Amino acid sequence: MIISDDDKNKRQKSARREFLADLPTSKHLDKEKSQNLEAKEVEFDKTYEKNIRPKTFDEYIGQSALKETLKITIEASKKRNIPLDHLLFYGPPGLGKTTLAGVIANEIGVNIKITSAPALERPRDIIGILMSLKGGEILFIDEIHRLNKVAEEILYPAMEDFFIDLTTGKSQSVKTMRVPVPKFTLIGATTKAGALSGPLRDRFGIIHRLEFYTIEELADVIKRSAKILNIKIDNEGAKEIASRSRATPRIANRLIKRTADYALVKYDGKITKIIAKEALDSLCIDNLGLDNTDRALLELIIKNYDGGPVGIETLSVALGEDIRTIEDVYEPYLLQKGLLARTNRGRRATKAAYKHLGIDYLEQNGQMGLF
Ligand SMILES: Nc1ncnc2c1ncn2[C@@H]1O[C@H](COP(=O)(O)OP(=O)(O)OP(=O)(O)O)[C@@H](O)[C@H]1O
Ligand SMILES: [Mg+2]
Repeated sequence: MIISDDDKNKRQKSARREFLADLPTSKHLDKEKSQNLEAKEVEFDKTYEKNIRPKTFDEYIGQSALKETLKITIEASKKRNIPLDHLLFYGPPGLGKTTLAGVIANEIGVNIKITSAPALERPRDIIGILMSLKGGEILFIDEIHRLNKVAEEILYPAMEDFFIDLTTGKSQSVKTMRVPVPKFTLIGATTKAGALSGPLRDRFGIIHRLEFYTIEELADVIKRSAKILNIKIDNEGAKEIASRSRATPRIANRLIKRTADYALVKYDGKITKIIAKEALDSLCIDNLGLDNTDRALLELIIKNYDGGPVGIETLSVALGEDIRTIEDVYEPYLLQKGLLARTNRGRRATKAAYKHLGIDYLEQNGQMGLF
């Protein structure tokens, strides 16, 4: 049978229509997005969260080297009238990766679509979201290291040359169509840059690690949030909370709210150094910002395994925490503070960890100069 060009076009159009009808709607994507965010925001009131999230570079505190790089890149892409290069942000949770993506979209004046790798399980999920983009828009994929192979392969030509290959039909009648997608910017975020596949990583123009915040920067985050939330706090009170916030703005924001509740119920509502100290002590957050789980982790290594090395799997079972939570949430700060060391035979508690927990280092190790 001879098929005319006209017929071919009609068939292609109808196959495309069928395909599009089968795609997830933006409502469906939004639902998955909100489920993801909800999991992370259990402890923090969502309305407050929304109000205190910075929207401009001026409001976004710290990360100055990264902000400078981004400002120049944004300016250049505006002058060239092309979309921003794809960006990858990595670093521990709560340092401001998602917030920064929102700031960038706001500073450029474009829309941002937020999703996360686990929500892009089926090929049609990623195809659906790519095809729903408008020119210049930003697509933000959280936890991008969790993208599966198929989704990654759909993403490669979309990132590089702005097209995707659509396959329609079954068995013998499979057809492939090359469909253009609008020029967009992908911003990926991950807590684990090492888990990203090489080819995906290579397709990002800018790859940047977010740094832990200094106490001064965190005190600024706290004072800014306090102002928005109508919480009275003095400089010393802000510094006290900052020093116990694990160098992380998300934790600083959580602690300020808890401290404000404490100050309101026990005192006149204003947060001072003494009140902050008392409130945080009552929450078992110590002067380095460690909580019960951090201390249990270090104590376990010291008391049960002579200071280590001990494998992450063993720690996970003994603590009842999953490996990912230990690696992503607890370890980065303990490593940064020099309380924990990673060796190829497992984790070790450092001399500083013994000191912090008030455990005699010599007694445990029987000799000097191990570290
Ligand atoms: N630079 C900053 N200045 C002020 N506030 C900040 C900054 N970075 C983050 N925050 C605050 O901390 C909260 C957590 O930030 P965000 O959700 O962007 O972290 P994240 O790096 O995306 O974390 P995750 O890895 O868990 O997704 C934000 O709601 C925001 O209010
Ligand atoms: Mg995030």
